[in-house]
Amino acid sequence: MQSRCCAGLLTAFLCCTNVGEVSAKEPVTGTHGMVVAQEPIAADVGLEILKNGGNAVDAAVAVGFALAVTHSSAGNLGGGGFMLVRLANGATTFLDFRECAPRKASRDMYLGPDGEPTRDSIFGWRSSGVPGSVSGFSAAHKKFGTKPWADLLAPAIKLARDGFVVSEPVAESLKSAEQLRQDPESKRIFLRDGDYYKPGDVLRQPELAETLDRIAQHGAREFYDGETAHRLAAAMTAHGGLITVDDLKAYKTIERKPLTGEYKGFQILTAPPPSAGGLGLLQIMGILTGTHYDSDGPNSTKAVHYEAEAMRRFYADRSEYMGDPDFYVVPVKPLLNPAYLAKRRSTIDPQHATPSDLVEPGLPKAMNAGITWYESTETTHYNVVDAHGNAVAVTYTLNNSYGNGITAPGLGFLLNDEMDDFVAKPGAPNMFGMVGGDANAIEPGKRPLSSMTPTIITKNGKLFMAVGAPGGSRITTGVTEVILDVIDFHMNPQSAVDLPRFHEQWKPDILYLQDGFPAATEDALKKMGYQVKPTEGVARVEAIVVKGHTLEGGTESRLHGKVAAY
Ligand code: GLY
Repeated sequence: MQSRCCAGLLTAFLCCTNVGEVSAKEPVTGTHGMVVAQEPIAADVGLEILKNGGNAVDAAVAVGFALAVTHSSAGNLGGGGFMLVRLANGATTFLDFRECAPRKASRDMYLGPDGEPTRDSIFGWRSSGVPGSVSGFSAAHKKFGTKPWADLLAPAIKLARDGFVVSEPVAESLKSAEQLRQDPESKRIFLRDGDYYKPGDVLRQPELAETLDRIAQHGAREFYDGETAHRLAAAMTAHGGLITVDDLKAYKTIERKPLTGEYKGFQILTAPPPSAGGLGLLQIMGILTGTHYDSDGPNSTKAVHYEAEAMRRFYADRSEYMGDPDFYVVPVKPLLNPAYLAKRRSTIDPQHATPSDLVEPGLPKAMNAGITWYESTETTHYNVVDAHGNAVAVTYTLNNSYGNGITAPGLGFLLNDEMDDFVAKPGAPNMFGMVGGDANAIEPGKRPLSSMTPTIITKNGKLFMAVGAPGGSRITTGVTEVILDVIDFHMNPQSAVDLPRFHEQWKPDILYLQDGFPAATEDALKKMGYQVKPTEGVARVEAIVVKGHTLEGGTESRLHGKVAAY
C-alpha cells in the first residue's frame, strides 16, 4: 500500500509523489464573488452581474443564458437541469427543470419491430423531451432575483447577435460534432456549411438572438405559449417529433426539497430524485464512514478500493430503486438508513474486489427487473457565490454533446435527446453496459432519471463548498471524489479537480482510471481483482470552497473552464 507520508495540508500532500501524479496548483481566489463555469465568456458574464450588484441567482440565470450562446454543446434553451440554491440566511431550495416526456410518449416507443431498442432515443426529432431550462431560469429569477429579467438576458442576446470569438476548444468541438452535420439548420449555423469555424473567427447566431430577445421581452411564457412555442411545435409536427404546444404549456419547474445528509460534521445539500446523484453521493459517503479508507492518502490503493466498492453498491441500488419520484416511490430513507449502509459496508472485502455479479440491489425484497438505459457524457455545471454568501450550483444539459444535433428552424437553439435517459427496454445491457429498473420506464409527463449532482456543503451553518459536474453516469463519482479530496485529504479545490479520478458503476464490472492515474495503485488494484481500463476523463468537476473570507475556485484545467472572481 502507498503511504500518506505527510497528511494534512495540500503542500504536504504534494511531497508524496507516490499517491498521484498531480501538479501543485494554487486555486484562483476572490473575496467578493466567484463564478466557476466551463466556458470563460459566460463565467465573465456572471461576474459582471455580481459586480453590478446582482445576487448569485441573478448571476446564475445570466450565466445559464450566456452558456446557451457560447457553449452550445451543453449550455441550452432546449434542454433542462437542476438548480440548487442556498441563501446566506440558510434558506435552501432545489429547482427541478429537468425535461419531461411528451404526452404522446410511451413505454416501448424506442423499440423496433424486432423488439430491440432503436437509436431514435438519441437521434432525430423523437428523442427530445419537453425542454425545461427557460422555465427553470424564470422560476429562479421570480423567487430570488433582484435584477430585471431582461438585464439578465442582455449579455446573451449581445453575444448571439454580435457574435463571440471562437476559441480553440470551441472550434475543435464544433468540427468534431458529427450529429451537427446531419441537420441542415445546425450545419448552416454551427459548421458554416462545412467551412468550419477556426479559432479567432466570430460566431454570430442571429436567430438565437431573436429568440432570446422575445424571451427577454415576454418572459418564459414566450417559450412555452408564444411564438417560440408555436414554431417549435410546428417543426416537431413537420418532422415526426412528439412535442406539442400543449406539452409546452403544461411544462412546470418543480420546486423540491434538497436531499440532505451529514458527513464528518459537514452538512451536505444535494440533488433529490429525479436525480440519482445526491443519493449516490450520500450512499457512498455513508458506506465509507468508519472504514478509515483515507488513511493511506488520496488515490492510494486502499482509498480507491473502498471508494470503488461503495460506488459499485450504489450503482446496483440505482439500477433498481431510482426514478422520477412523482411517478415511482423512491425509497430515499431506506437507501440512506445507516443500518442499511452498514450492511452494505460489511460486504466489502478489505483485500479483494467484489465481482459485480455478486452485488445486487440491496433493500429487502428487491426485484431485479434489469432494464437498460444509456447516459451520455455531455452536460455542463457552474457555481456562483456572491458577496453575501448566497450560493448556487447549476447543472443543465442537452444530454449528448449538442443534444440530438437538431436546431429548431428559425429559432437558433439545439434540441435535447434527454429521452435517452429513460429505460428503453427491459433486459439487455446498453452500449455502456448500464442496467436499470422499472422505476425509470417511459411515461408521459415523467422526468428521466439523471446523474446530475449539484451540491452545496456547509459547516457549522456556514457555506463551505459548491460543486458539481457534467459527465453522464460518471457525474456522481466525479463529484463525490472531489468532495472527499477536499474534506478528507484537505486539498484545495483546484488540486482536487486536477487529481486523476476513477469510476466504478457496477455494470460493466470495470474500474475506469483516468489518464495520469498512479501506476503503482493501478498494479495493486489489478492484483486485488479489479478489471481496470484507462479513460480520458471522469466527469469535469467545477468547485468553489470557502476558506475564512476567501473564495477558492477549481475548474477543469484539462479543459477550458474559468474561475472568474473579484
Ligand atoms: N443527461 C445526463 C444526466 O442527466 O445525468
